[in-house]
Amino acid sequence: MSLDIVILAAGQGTRMRSALPKVLHPVAAKPMLAHVIDTARQLAPRKIHVVIGHGAELVRERLAADDVDFVLQAEQLGTGHAVAQALPHIEADKVLILYGDVPLTRVETLQGLLAQANEQQLGLLTVNLVDPTGYGRILRDANGVVQAIVEHKDASEAQRAIREGNTGILAVPGKRLGDWLGRLSNSNAQGEYYLTDVIAMAVADGLVVATETAQDEMEVLGANDRIQLAQLERYYQQRAARSLMTQGVTLLDPARFDLRGEVTVGRDVLIDVNVILEGQVVIEDNVQIGPNCVIKNSILRKGAIVKANSHLDGAELGEGADCGPFARLRPGAKLGAKAHVGNFVELKNAVMGEGAKAGHLAYLGDAEIGARTNIGAGTITCNYDGANKHKTVMGEDVFIGSNSSIVAPVTLGAGATTGAGSTVTQDVPDGALAVGRAKQRNIEGWKRPTKK
Ligand code: UD1
Ligand code: CA
Repeated sequence: MSLDIVILAAGQGTRMRSALPKVLHPVAAKPMLAHVIDTARQLAPRKIHVVIGHGAELVRERLAADDVDFVLQAEQLGTGHAVAQALPHIEADKVLILYGDVPLTRVETLQGLLAQANEQQLGLLTVNLVDPTGYGRILRDANGVVQAIVEHKDASEAQRAIREGNTGILAVPGKRLGDWLGRLSNSNAQGEYYLTDVIAMAVADGLVVATETAQDEMEVLGANDRIQLAQLERYYQQRAARSLMTQGVTLLDPARFDLRGEVTVGRDVLIDVNVILEGQVVIEDNVQIGPNCVIKNSILRKGAIVKANSHLDGAELGEGADCGPFARLRPGAKLGAKAHVGNFVELKNAVMGEGAKAGHLAYLGDAEIGARTNIGAGTITCNYDGANKHKTVMGEDVFIGSNSSIVAPVTLGAGATTGAGSTVTQDVPDGALAVGRAKQRNIEGWKRPTKK
């Protein structure tokens, strides 16, 4: 059976108190609607229809994709009216309704729901709630067969006592949908066209409403305000932490770990507290990450060590390489195997060969540094002349004395040495010593000035 998915995302989200449309608010750095679209994709639908309204242009711009078709709902007249806007584009024989502000529903739950839907049967996702206030309630007959959904605002006291709530997520036979939506009325407490009224119509037409129950409240929670957004964020992070631990990662405190992107991990990885992983991160076996590190779009090869308070973006650490504490590796920073970068060292577009070292307080930008080369404290590659960037090349086994300024473009041959405090403006041949500083002279018997 073919599948069309409709995602409702037209609502305003007043309680967010935000200029940003609600569905663009992020969970784990990704818009809620993008989570829903990604989940929808995993169900291999024929087409994904997103119903937009408030902030339509921005939503369309941010989330445009080949397999997503946007449908405008100019006025928000209710969930039934919203689905009706997508109707002309629906062709599949099964239709799944999702919500742009309900980001964390598991694919397995939706697969279970879809398995319930066919030409004779609707699949309805319900949830058992401690406090069902605000939710539509599931009405069952004496045999437990679903008859209808009543919205909280339309419900009697007795109906409000029902704890089984409507998640809003349902799977329906596509051929029937048009007929049902066409018959919806808005004579109810909210004056809206309720999608939920479709349930009673299906029952009247002799269809069975089969229910699937959500694992927990969080996987069907929608974010109406920033408090719920924060709850969803924590739930997402708990899941991410659990997933990593089951893959062989030790998290010293799973409650103090944040994943804002995707990570692939090897075994026996150790991650200390307050680590944030962003974008695409690859972590191989036996890597150790110290506390308070931010690691974005980076690759950490086997046995690499990132010490406390380091910030990596677009960096690669080779096998057994280490950096930090307080290292800053910017895009294009690449450490060879066993290379070492210590505290307060910044690298940008700089490649360090195997076993090369920069222990303290240095800026290495647009540089190629050979194996085993040692960069003294206070070394700066002067790569920018105010208009253009230039490259520094150092061969293998170079020794840069402390506080050297290496003015690019410049090449230092293998085994070259620079004296501490040198300003190096010319190429240095292999094995040579470059001294680019004023010669020291001592003035004997020097008298310090005295106050007048
Ligand atoms: C809906 C369900 C309720 C369920 C609850 C779960 C109906 C009538 N009620 O109620 O049974 O328990 O969700 O959270 O469906 N939307 C549009 N266009 C519209 C109206 C809504 O796109 O014209 C979108 C909203 O942006 C929102 C979602 O649909 O994301 C739900 O709409 P909302 O009005 O909040 O429904 P609830 O009152 O929460
Ligand atoms: Ca709602």
